[in-house]
Formats: sequence, C-alpha cells, structure tokens
Amino acid sequence: MDITLLIPFVEITLAGAIINASVHFVPVGGAGHTIAFLKANPNLKIIAIDQDEEVIEVAKERLKEEGLLERVSIYYANFKDFDLVLKEENIDKLDFIFFDLGVSHFQLRSDRGFSYWEDMPLDMRMDKALRKTAADIVNSYKEKELEKIFKIYGEEKYASQIAKEILKYRSRKKITSTLELSQIIEKVYLSRYLKKKKISQNDLNKYKDKYRQIFKKHPATKVFQALRIEVNREFEALKEALSKVSNFLKTYGRLGVITFHSLEDKMVKNILKEDPSIRLVDIFLPSQDEIKNNVASRSAKLRVYEKR
Ligand SMILES: C[S@@+](CC[C@H](N)C(=O)[O-])C[C@H]1O[C@@H](n2cnc3c(N)ncnc32)[C@H](O)[C@@H]1O
Repeated sequence: MDITLLIPFVEITLAGAIINASVHFVPVGGAGHTIAFLKANPNLKIIAIDQDEEVIEVAKERLKEEGLLERVSIYYANFKDFDLVLKEENIDKLDFIFFDLGVSHFQLRSDRGFSYWEDMPLDMRMDKALRKTAADIVNSYKEKELEKIFKIYGEEKYASQIAKEILKYRSRKKITSTLELSQIIEKVYLSRYLKKKKISQNDLNKYKDKYRQIFKKHPATKVFQALRIEVNREFEALKEALSKVSNFLKTYGRLGVITFHSLEDKMVKNILKEDPSIRLVDIFLPSQDEIKNNVASRSAKLRVYEKR
C-alpha cells in the first residue's frame, strides 16, 4: 500500500520530545500511517477517527491482520469533534496529533463517485449519514452558487462556463453519474481549446476522446475536488478542528498535517499562523522516488508544528 510522506512522518513523530509518546490521534483511512506508527514505537497507543464507516471496517481488518488492533481505539466521528472523543477516552492532552486530509485510496476505488475515471453514481459522501450528495448539489444549486464553489474550492478557471453548461444540461435531464458530469466539463474545456486554436466548434466531436493528449490533467479534476469539499463540508471541519487543536497538545507535543492541494495548505498555514502557542517546525514534500511509486503523493505537503 502507498502511504503518503511516510518516512518524514515517522521520523518527526519519533523525534525529540515525543520519543516516549503514549497517545496519538490519527484519522485512520486505510490504516497505513497507523500501522507504520505502531510498528515504529511499541509504547504507542492510537486514537483513530474516521467519518467513513466502510473505511473503518477495512482499517480494522488490516490492523487485526497485523496483530495491532488492540492498540488502537477507533471512532466513527468527524474529526472536528475530536475533543468529544478525547473526553470519552478520559484524555486531556496528547503527544501527537495528525491529520491526513482528503480521500483515501479505498474511497477513490469505491463506487461512491469520487473518481471521474469510472462511471458511477455521483455521490461523494465520505459519511453516508450526510444528506446531500454531489448529484443533489449539481441538480439544485443556482448557477452562481455552482460557479462560486468551482472557483473557490476548485480554483477552476472555467467555473462560470461549467456552471452554465450544467444548468443547460439539467434543464433537459438530471445529472446522476460521474460520466455525465465529466462529459459536461470536457465539452467546456474542448470548446475553449478549439476557440483558442481558432478551430471551428463544429469539429468538437472529432476532439471528444482526445482530451488526454490535449490536457495535462483531466478537465474534471478541479470540479470533482470542489464538489467533494462541498459535499463533505471539508473546510468547515478543518477550520473547527485546527482552531482548537493546540489546546489538546502537551508542551513540545507535535501536530502533523498532510494536505493535498494548495488551497488546503493555505488554509492550514493561515489558521495555525494565528495560534501563538504553536510554532512551525518543518515542511516536507515527497521525493521524486515517492512520486514515482505513489502518484497520489505528488501534490502532498506535510507541515509539522510544535506546542510551545
Ligand atoms: C488520505 S486518507 C487517510 C489515509 C491514512 N493516513 C492511511 O495511511 O491509510 C483521509 C481519511 O480521512 C477521512 N476524513 C476526511 N475528513 C474527515 C473528517 N472531517 N472527519 C473524520 N475523518 C475524515 C477520510 O474518510 C479518509 O479515510
């Protein structure tokens, strides 16, 4: 299994003040970091939180196979409520807190519509208890609202054209699948490309399947990211969690955050800059080797902070 930024992650968490760490908190995902963490330090106990019940089942299975399950308390919860989890565990402060943001490999390969590479229902909920799916959003939001989330959460340059095209499409038929949405987006990208190259729009169909050669990234990348953030209220959860996190760290305790896109990283940086009780220790990026073996790590960044 590919585990993003694992080497610096284990090094920083085992370094210095927290070498005898006893309790850590980690979003469990596929349990990759959790397993590596437990193996690297036999004294460790981990409290893991994830908002995806299916992911938790997979993680439990893996931890069981490794004989590590009894050293982890796993909670089905949103990490914005991690303080409630700690209360339940009767713990005031931790040696290390870690957030590995975004989606897991397991979720990307699931049938919940996180990926535009396969045709499936446009859902994108990590937590099945959430009421609004990505399909609900694209079929009900006003054009300006869609444009705003594509622009802000996706930094999508064709936000307004894509929002317009979505409204046009849904006036005829509801958008229910990943393929329908990605085809709408591809059409906008291709049409802009033809315009730039001064090629007639009548030739659009000829270029339909050529977007892989034309565009470096899949045209749907940013809109899918934006919808995922909106569906899962990712930034609200991150803001709430990070604004209270330092209250739950011991002195010299460490906080690690792995982000996967610049917007997320900017948010983490800005929120934590406001907190005088912690200081930035280091920033790690994946090596070329890591990127070669784990493409998903290419945009990852690990920020490490220490409680004063
Ligand atoms: C990148 S994956 C973690 C991968 C994990 N570190 C590993 O090594 O396998 C991110 C995980 O965070 C979870 N997650 C995202 N936002 C969350 C939130 N607000 N509360 C709880 N879990 C969340 C997702 O469900 C996903 O399983």
